[in-house]
Amino acid sequence: MDLKKRVESLALPLTMFLQKRAERLSLSLTAFLILSVLGAVALGHAVIGGVFYFGPVYLPHAPKQPVAFSHKLHAGTNKIPCQYCHSDARRTESAGIPTAKKCMNCHVVVKTESPEVVKIAAAHDNGKPIEWVRVYKNPDHVWFSHKRHIKKGVECQTCHGPVETMEVVSKVVDHQMGFCLSCHKSKKAPTDCWTCHT
Ligand code: HEC
Ligand code: HEC
Ligand code: HEC
Ligand code: HEC
Ligand code: HEC
Repeated sequence: MDLKKRVESLALPLTMFLQKRAERLSLSLTAFLILSVLGAVALGHAVIGGVFYFGPVYLPHAPKQPVAFSHKLHAGTNKIPCQYCHSDARRTESAGIPTAKKCMNCHVVVKTESPEVVKIAAAHDNGKPIEWVRVYKNPDHVWFSHKRHIKKGVECQTCHGPVETMEVVSKVVDHQMGFCLSCHKSKKAPTDCWTCHT
């Protein structure tokens, strides 16, 4: 195969992928072109460098939360199972954050005098949800589902680290494409682009 053909055969799937992505986001042509270039550069880096997949991206990241909730105290010391609070994980795409109502299952009697618990009781009474700050968030062009992974027995900690030791949840695992792909390859899970990019 001559060089031109080889370049074309490589460029076509990428262009198709970016085009679909642009259509979905209904971007203007200009934005689409800019994205294409950025995407191609990023992918180029990934292919050439390998490092791009695993490179450090300001880890760990722990946003300040509105209530001083400790995973170490609840999931560590008191051994409350992850899925007692994140009960959507085995059923839906998202793991879900528990409502104040779930906290109050215990906190109607536990530590009711604590100023932090008073905040939860207030949220529960006036129906205003606590505005937790997200720690892990995929870009819009990535599709992910908890359900499938939990059903296959992938541990929460594989993707989120030892949360049960954390006073404040911090982002200790970098969800870059290479992270997802290396497990998919080793577990013979799907690796075609459309699996994760819709
Ligand atoms: C299954 C029971 C249970 C649930 C559900 C629960 N907690 Fe707790 N929580 C505890 C226990 C036990 C303690 C430790 C009490 C102690 O130190 O005596 C605690 C302590 C706390 C404290 C520390 C209070 C202080 O000042 O020392 C906060 C804050 C707290 N919980 C917030 C929450 C939030 C927010 C939720 C819901 C997302 C929640 N809890 C759900 C059992 C629970
Ligand atoms: C008592 C309820 C409770 C238990 C038990 C619990 N969590 Fe959480 N989890 C929360 C709440 C509330 C938040 C949102 C506040 C925060 O980020 O700390 C949260 C946030 C998280 C986040 C960050 C979500 C984001 O914003 O991206 C992860 C990851 C997480 N939990 C994993 C776990 C794992 C793994 C376990 C078990 C080892 C666990 N949780 C046990 C209540 C709980
Ligand atoms: C295969 C990797 C993987 C596993 C296993 C996994 N998560 Fe996640 N988790 C993610 C990704 C990726 C996101 C970001 C999703 C997004 O932005 O759409 C996320 C987001 C979250 C969030 C934020 C809210 C949400 O629902 O998106 C919570 C809470 C969470 N995970 C808890 C858990 C718990 C608890 C477990 C185990 C029962 C678990 N995760 C297992 C990859 C994983
Ligand atoms: C530790 C291993 C592991 C990691 C890490 C992992 N996956 Fe998976 N994933 C799997 C396995 C195993 C399956 C196949 C599940 C099945 O066959 O039901 C799968 C399936 C999927 C599917 C197909 C789900 C469906 O409903 O068809 C998507 C999408 C996916 N993973 C996205 C991701 C993304 C995005 C990441 C990174 C944020 C990721 N995965 C990280 C093991 C992993
Ligand atoms: C198992 C899931 C998975 C598969 C399969 C996958 N990707 Fe990705 N891809 C991701 C995730 C997750 C990100 C977001 C990475 C980040 O935010 O750092 C991403 C990001 C990208 C980006 C944006 C570059 C960047 O750094 O943000 C491009 C372009 C891309 N993927 C192309 C592809 C192509 C082409 C294929 C098929 C050869 C593919 N992906 C297959 C998970 C996947």
